[in-house]
Amino acid sequence: MPAEFTRIVTVRPATALEGVVRVPGDKSISHRYAMFAALAEGVTRISHYAPGNDCQSTLRCLEQLGVVVSRHASFDRDSGAEVPTVQIVGRGLRGLQSPTADLDCGNSGSTLRMLAGILAAHPFTSVLTGDASLRRRPMMRVVTPLQKMGAEVTSVEGRPPVHVTGGNLTPITYRPETPSAQVKTAVLLAGLQTAGTTTFEEPAGTRDHTERALKAFGATLDIQGHVISITGEQRLTGRPLAVPGDPSSAAFWACAAAALPGSFIELRDVGLNPSRTAIFDVLRRLGADVDLQVDRTDAEEPVGRVRVRHRALRPLELTPAEVPGLIDELPVLAALATHGGELRVTGAGELRAKESDRITALVNGLRALGADADELPDGFHVRGSRRLLGGLVDAADDHRLAMAFAVAGLGAMEPTVIRGADAVDVSYPGFFDVLVALRK
Ligand code: S3P
Repeated sequence: MPAEFTRIVTVRPATALEGVVRVPGDKSISHRYAMFAALAEGVTRISHYAPGNDCQSTLRCLEQLGVVVSRHASFDRDSGAEVPTVQIVGRGLRGLQSPTADLDCGNSGSTLRMLAGILAAHPFTSVLTGDASLRRRPMMRVVTPLQKMGAEVTSVEGRPPVHVTGGNLTPITYRPETPSAQVKTAVLLAGLQTAGTTTFEEPAGTRDHTERALKAFGATLDIQGHVISITGEQRLTGRPLAVPGDPSSAAFWACAAAALPGSFIELRDVGLNPSRTAIFDVLRRLGADVDLQVDRTDAEEPVGRVRVRHRALRPLELTPAEVPGLIDELPVLAALATHGGELRVTGAGELRAKESDRITALVNGLRALGADADELPDGFHVRGSRRLLGGLVDAADDHRLAMAFAVAGLGAMEPTVIRGADAVDVSYPGFFDVLVALRK
């Protein structure tokens, strides 16, 4: 299979990193604000919209569904920089139009799964598909509950393309086997457009941006621990929104600072929603000096700054219960462990269902750079007892692996050559430019 991404980037070893970083807008929140704005009444203006390819896929799909989207740059007083801004004219609940072509979700599982929930309530057929990586990813987790609600949903052996023929749905109470914020969102969005009360019971807590954003758009939800209920046919109202910086992108710099002696990085305007900040607690447990401060709340989402300084690393074992809160940060934590730490993770079989098989591709990549790393059936074990050699590593068409290998390579003896490094454009365009600027 030809690789989607082909660019080669060389990362030289670094002694230390230093500086202030504002990471791009949060990917999870951007998808949601754009989709909820499309279902709302009135206009929503979203500043700091995530610039990566994934969130652009969401906008393009919405346009194919008749939503008017305009994109521009607006001046941000805090950073003194131009920030990506998107304006969306809402079409109201069940107001989307039948698309004339397949909806290409690119590399984005969030786009496909969450849109499926929206389209399940629309009385036309949509075909949701994406790139080679997305077409390998499991979709039954969203097909099953939407079928239970009464939509006609089919997939090809549980994978895209997913055909959705929507209509009048019946509310359900649903408890998935695997915790997933995307599935929770798909069910709640279908429930929002269905008369009656739809309930989603999470087996373990996952990021709660959907719940917060629905409130910000004016909806009422009932939340009892991990049980979330929504009464259907509530109207959403468009409004101005600012997306906080993405903590999963910030994690690369936080881990790089934790890895290299003499480093100090300050991350500004980063989202500090408690369902996303486990990474910073884990960094502390690994030995780093982490200082976190919430400065404000934007549309229910806490936002603030994080300062990270290197300290000697300690070995750490993560429990399966901790995995859902760290799922996107596990690759970079593995990379950090190669800098003289040690990390063992189990209960993370879900990593095999991400943009790549993030257990095999991660361990193979770190080993290619000289790491002492083992694959476990549902996790990995990385021992940082020897310094990496550097060399050639393949990003496996996976943005988070491309960035994790860059963080690992900072501690190697020789340069690290990352093949398919342009995968970073999926969530963090400009990642390698920031890396150059932070070198001390
Ligand atoms: C996401 C949820 C997580 C995460 C993904 C984004 C979201 O996936 O890994 O990067 O925005 O809801 P799952 O819902 O599959 O756990």
